[in-house]
Amino acid sequence: MRVAALLMAAGRGERLGGAEPKQFLPLLGRPVLRHAAEALLRDGLVDRVQPVCAAAERERVDAVLAGLPALPAVTGGATRQESVRAGLEALESHAPFFVLVHDAARPYVPAGTVAALLAALEEAEGAIPAQPVADTLKLAEGDVVRRTVPRDGLFRAQTPQGFRFPLLLALHRAAPEGATDDAFLLEAAGHAVRLVPGSEGNVKITLPGDLERMEASMTAMMLPR
Ligand code: CTP
Ligand code: MG
Repeated sequence: MRVAALLMAAGRGERLGGAEPKQFLPLLGRPVLRHAAEALLRDGLVDRVQPVCAAAERERVDAVLAGLPALPAVTGGATRQESVRAGLEALESHAPFFVLVHDAARPYVPAGTVAALLAALEEAEGAIPAQPVADTLKLAEGDVVRRTVPRDGLFRAQTPQGFRFPLLLALHRAAPEGATDDAFLLEAAGHAVRLVPGSEGNVKITLPGDLERMEASMTAMMLPR
């Protein structure tokens, strides 16, 4: 297997609230998780998707992904980092060359992102899509502004993030808890991570209203594929 993709779906969606985790909510009639998997697979560069979810939801996830080149779902952990580790361990026997790690809560990845990541991985150990920060940044304590933080060179990291598989597995096995994304583990160990262009449309469904806004922009076809 050349390229595998972890589909991270073991979160509980606590900030969004509601009866069930956001990855199962319908977006244009299909679960967010299904959109995320199809987005990864659309360009034909990913060989297999490996979903990671709560133990009780494995069968449900496999059903949502029916018909796609997905491996059976494996059980994640209490943190995203633990869940990624579980997914990487499950992929070890398949020995992929590259692994992408993608949030199931990101239903939209534009065409070309996966190709850009894989191209960057020819020269670096990691590659991530990112958007330059557009807003003016303020450092504040409570509601008191202390100062303006220069935004030059600041980017918002998105997923899928791409890595050479053996390196990411080794870093996760050695890692202390507390990384908020996978590229962090490479940065901390001194490995090269490249940026590729991210997309305004690549939103992580996180807060109430995000799903409705996503559906509105997809309906209006404001998200070019
Ligand atoms: N995730 C995971 N395992 C965890 C926590 C998160 O696989 N223990 C996944 C989520 O399912 C999500 C992605 O990582 O697709 C990004 O996490 P986040 O947006 O924080 O999702 P949740 O943890 O579900 O949401 P919240 O933090 O609001 O509870
Ligand atoms: Mg979370």
